Amino acid sequence: MMAETHEVLIPSGGFQAPVKTVHPLVEGPWQDRLGELAKGRRILLVGERRVVDAHDLEVDIILPGGERQKSLEAATRLARDLVTSGIDRNHLLVAIGGGATTDLVGFVASVTLRGIPWLPIPSTTLAMVDAAIGGKTAVNLPEGKNLVGSFHQPEGVIVDRRLLRSLPRARRLEGLVELVKTALCDQALGEQVLAAKSVEDLEALLFQGAQVKLDLVSRDPLDLGPRQALNLGHTVGHALEALFMPRLSHGEAIAIGLVPVLRMGLGDQAQPWLEALQRVGLPLKPPNEVDRNQLVAFMGRDKKGGKVVVPRPDYSVERWSDAEAILEYIESEAFLDTPPTIA
Ligand SMILES: NC(=O)c1ccc[n+]([C@@H]2O[C@H](COP(=O)([O-])OP(=O)(O)OC[C@H]3O[C@@H](n4cnc5c(N)ncnc54)[C@H](O)[C@@H]3O)[C@@H](O)[C@H]2O)c1
Repeated sequence: MMAETHEVLIPSGGFQAPVKTVHPLVEGPWQDRLGELAKGRRILLVGERRVVDAHDLEVDIILPGGERQKSLEAATRLARDLVTSGIDRNHLLVAIGGGATTDLVGFVASVTLRGIPWLPIPSTTLAMVDAAIGGKTAVNLPEGKNLVGSFHQPEGVIVDRRLLRSLPRARRLEGLVELVKTALCDQALGEQVLAAKSVEDLEALLFQGAQVKLDLVSRDPLDLGPRQALNLGHTVGHALEALFMPRLSHGEAIAIGLVPVLRMGLGDQAQPWLEALQRVGLPLKPPNEVDRNQLVAFMGRDKKGGKVVVPRPDYSVERWSDAEAILEYIESEAFLDTPPTIA
């Protein structure tokens, strides 16, 4: 199955210029699909340790995987290993791993030799539906996450769900939170997510979720407009993640962060979405000891200029510049003290 590709327009100095086609998204056994996308080029395969071991893969370079490797130091090491391996711009650099690996490898691909073609093969639900799609790459600084990065569209993304067999269940659930979030931006996906009865039903929709993200990216590759819908739940979520790291994972924090924006944006119609989130199975209530003032302060540091993305019933979103309203809600008992109830 191959998703449509789109020609994209990048706004530049008051006019829009056609740039290039955003990457194809293909599904199936990665060994079969890679050949078509490599188009005869030499492939240099980078894989992260857990995936390489669990799936008995042969790769050229092994990375440790996980968030700690998303650093400039690790990027330097990888760039040096690539150069020592004799990589040139005629190679295709392929990364197999979770979002931390695809972010790191994509970043190194964007700067080594001033840009090497690359292709991620995501191995977590989160990377399949979100991190590996759309060409945003980054490493972290001690000052914060994703502060050094680039836009470097991959040549394609291969979604091979066999790789998920080795992924611990808690990790699988995290990506499904991002699937629910993406479904808030697309009616066809939204209806299927709301009809899903189980985690397995939701997992079956991952590829469609990836297509919806790709479509948003195609319309807005530089994240200046419609792609920002994907920030749903992330203003509150990132604040909670920063406050409770490492106790609260990204997926858990976003699940909690979606609750207030769902209630604010959808009112009575929020309930089926809250139930979809509950079906994913992660807690939806912030830790009891959350400090309201700190939460508000961390939200203020979010990169979205004080605007909070809120869903609307017609699958569009709005950006509320009135951060006061959401702060008021978050400070209220409704968010901090009452878990959502299933009718
Ligand atoms: N670039 C983007 O647009 C974008 C979007 C969302 C998130 N992200 C980034 O993605 C990262 C999170 O990605 P993630 O949730 O995939 O986490 P991750 O890459 O940190 O992986 C989580 C853990 O699972 C292990 N793992 C990965 N695949 C496995 C498999 N198949 N079997 C067993 N273990 C496996 C990893 O080694 C790691 O320990 C964050 O750094 C986040 O900033 C990027």
